[in-house]
Amino acid sequence: MESTDLDHVPVGDLVCPEPDERPDIWPWTATRDEDGVLRLGGVAATDLARDHATPIFVMDRADLRGRATVWATTMAEEFWEGYGMAGGDAFYAGKAFLCADVVRTVTEAGMGVDTASLGELTLALRAGAAPSKVGLHGNNKLDAEIELALSAGNGQGIERIFVDSLPEVAQIEGIAAAKGVVARVMIRIKTGVHAGGNSYISTGHEDQKFGVGAFDGQLDQVVDAIKASPHLELRGLHSHIGSQIQGSAGFVEAAGIVMDVLAKVSAQVGAPLREIDLGGGVGVAHTGADPVPTSPAEVIREVARVIRDKADALGIPVPRVSVEPGRSVVGPTTVTLYRVGAVKDAILGEDLKRRRYVAVDGGMADNIRPALYGARYTATLANRVSEAPLVRSRVVGKHCESGDVVVWDVDLPCDVTAGDLLVVPVTGAYGYSMASNYNMLTKPGVVAVEDGRTQWIVRPQTVEDLLALDAGLDAGPSGRG
Ligand code: LLP
Repeated sequence: MESTDLDHVPVGDLVCPEPDERPDIWPWTATRDEDGVLRLGGVAATDLARDHATPIFVMDRADLRGRATVWATTMAEEFWEGYGMAGGDAFYAGKAFLCADVVRTVTEAGMGVDTASLGELTLALRAGAAPSKVGLHGNNKLDAEIELALSAGNGQGIERIFVDSLPEVAQIEGIAAAKGVVARVMIRIKTGVHAGGNSYISTGHEDQKFGVGAFDGQLDQVVDAIKASPHLELRGLHSHIGSQIQGSAGFVEAAGIVMDVLAKVSAQVGAPLREIDLGGGVGVAHTGADPVPTSPAEVIREVARVIRDKADALGIPVPRVSVEPGRSVVGPTTVTLYRVGAVKDAILGEDLKRRRYVAVDGGMADNIRPALYGARYTATLANRVSEAPLVRSRVVGKHCESGDVVVWDVDLPCDVTAGDLLVVPVTGAYGYSMASNYNMLTKPGVVAVEDGRTQWIVRPQTVEDLLALDAGLDAGPSGRG
């Protein structure tokens, strides 16, 4: 493939770092063999592509286990009773990516599971998560979700249901009363702190659908309604300030506000509330241009300090503290392997600047984040390394939309060609879980790699799977039956 007229493209942050250069954007076990092949969990990327169709999500199970262990032990340690605290727990936010194998891996590592729909709740319970370590979220919960939450574990019910609005108090009370059980609830409050991306701001984010205003009278009403509900037990307060947050400042600010509100609500209830949940949101890096993320231990140590100080200052007991990380648990554990197809250049204007388009066999259906949020990823060859000059490239999918971008900008060797394998790191969170069947593409499978072995943890969809839902085919090709 010609390359000389593309050699002007600058080399810099847009080159995908190798696993040894930026381990934080690669699965723990990622290495590059001497022949240039990427190896994950002891399995060569070329073998993965040969034995399983591309595109494919590849999860490093040992990495997931490690991250889940770090979160569980960090919470247990920082909030250990022996340090004068009241205990700490980490619930994995299943919305980031959920399947039975993930439930087992994270729960064996000591995490609970946070769910937000009938599907997530059913899967978590069926995969063996202890009801006492499961939570249920949702701003518009279905009766069926609440019913399952209250009947899980032969009627013992799940650990906590997060009340999101005043009408929901009556909804949960009604279902609990009909079942003759007591629902353990926490109230999701809006603290005014909203964080995300690289900055956090402390006002102006009350205008969103989640939670109960902490300072506008709504919370008082919800607390009074719960007090008047014989089948509800108010455990504490919850706050989630956003996602993909860098640093700890937003979490620290929110923790301080939640403690203030906890003191106020405890006074209103007439007894100390003993739990708070600070949600998820710890960010990850996706490219070499992103800063190395703050570790769970760094964030949680600061949060623990503010909680202890606030409890002292307010004269209330230190509460039990939980968090709900999703992305930081699963994001970097997984990569997507694609097969390169059509490669072409777009000529951008009279100075004959070009942009190389490298098309792969997936796209916005397996990763909607670049199209939806403008999210930045990076990519590199997985089947070989190349010394060829770099060319500014855009990795695109095979969908019928020009916004079907997998990687907006990456400097790839100019000899990348059809048949090569491209790997996109850090696709474990909100990749598969937000995947669609746009253009009737089948969803890729997810394979776990560990100690040189591979195992499907989610099988790839087939076209027959898709067609099986089409009631119009039941009658056969002749038409309406
Ligand atoms: N807890 C609650 C109540 C949440 O709403 C969320 C995420 C989490 C925990 C987990 O947050 P994490 O640790 O994963 O940041 N689709 C978006 C992300 C939406 C997050 C929604 N809630 C994305 O792809 O960036």
